[in-house]
Amino acid sequence: MLPLNVLVTFAAIATSILGSPTNSSVDDSCTVTSYDKVASAVSSCSKLTINGITVPAGETLTLNLKSGASLTLEGTIKFGYQEWKGPLILVKGSKVTVTGASGFKFDGDGAKYWDGKGDKGKVKPKFIRIQTTGGSVFKNINLLNCPHQCVSINSADSTTLQNWDVDVSAGDKDELGHNTDGFDISSSKNINIETATVKNQDDCVAINQGSNIYISGLTCSGGHGLSLSVGQNSGSDNTVSNVTFTDCTVKDSRNGIHVKTHTDGGTGYIKNVVYKNIKMSGISRYVINVQEDYAGGSSTGKPKNNIPITGLDISDVTASTTGSSCVPVYILCASGGCSSWTWSKISYSGKYKSNDCTGYTPSGFSC
Ligand SMILES: *[C@@H]1O[C@H](CO)[C@@H](O)[C@H](O)[C@H]1NC(C)=O
Repeated sequence: MLPLNVLVTFAAIATSILGSPTNSSVDDSCTVTSYDKVASAVSSCSKLTINGITVPAGETLTLNLKSGASLTLEGTIKFGYQEWKGPLILVKGSKVTVTGASGFKFDGDGAKYWDGKGDKGKVKPKFIRIQTTGGSVFKNINLLNCPHQCVSINSADSTTLQNWDVDVSAGDKDELGHNTDGFDISSSKNINIETATVKNQDDCVAINQGSNIYISGLTCSGGHGLSLSVGQNSGSDNTVSNVTFTDCTVKDSRNGIHVKTHTDGGTGYIKNVVYKNIKMSGISRYVINVQEDYAGGSSTGKPKNNIPITGLDISDVTASTTGSSCVPVYILCASGGCSSWTWSKISYSGKYKSNDCTGYTPSGFSC
């Protein structure tokens, strides 16, 4: 009879030779504290902790996680400075769970990049790209000082983000952190964002393409509001459907709700979008702005119906305005571009100019 410790060693050797990952509680759990160990740990471990690493300049922290893996993030994860497009972080995987431990943050060191020019000026890296599927969850994630767009949910399916904090408030002064969108969603479906705080200088959320997207409990400040921006792709892949924004707060922002379609891209549609229980304060330009005339990054005043908007239901909106040039409700629809919108319980206070509804007036609302 061999002593027990020899048997255990033998079993461990046998497991590593046979490469069985399924029953190996020893090999399957890893903690990584330096960047050069990340790639091998990500490919071999199903329970992974990454603590306080620095990602070298010009590299993407690529977390192509094993199916069903859980990743815990600890400490502060930092990134070397380089002017490039990024992203600084890419997460892929099916059925994965990514959790930030107490005190965890990704620090993008945005102030080094900010020049107030956003997409122009210095080339700035996007921060995190999420391409997960299969019921993946990201909990308690803090992003500090995004150099450029913060979170890109792109080609993702069945993914939930809970309890995020995106803080780019250091870029507020003179809008230095221009184009620091909070959550950008494109080519994705079945996405939930539940409870998040975004302090930035562009859209809090911008949906470009996707379906079945449910956003609740957001608190946004300093930016451009809860947005759809549809039509930039050439071709017909500019479709947004089944989107709900509910129980959100928008403070000190240019817009509360902003839906815009691009006249210089392709075709598509916006269908079945609901905004309900949206509380706004300190809105400087528009409480609700729906415009079908965007081209080359600005309003042209010439709406087109290449992206018709059908079913845009807005209810329970309260807003206070700031300054005196806010237009509470601005609608610019092309002929045949807007149909079946129902709006109710929309109220605003403060100084403002008169509403402007051109081309369409929603049912239940008098402009
Ligand atoms: C949108 O929701 C409707 C009603 O629930 C559903 O029938 C439809 O398939 C959904 N659209 C997409 C693209 O998932």
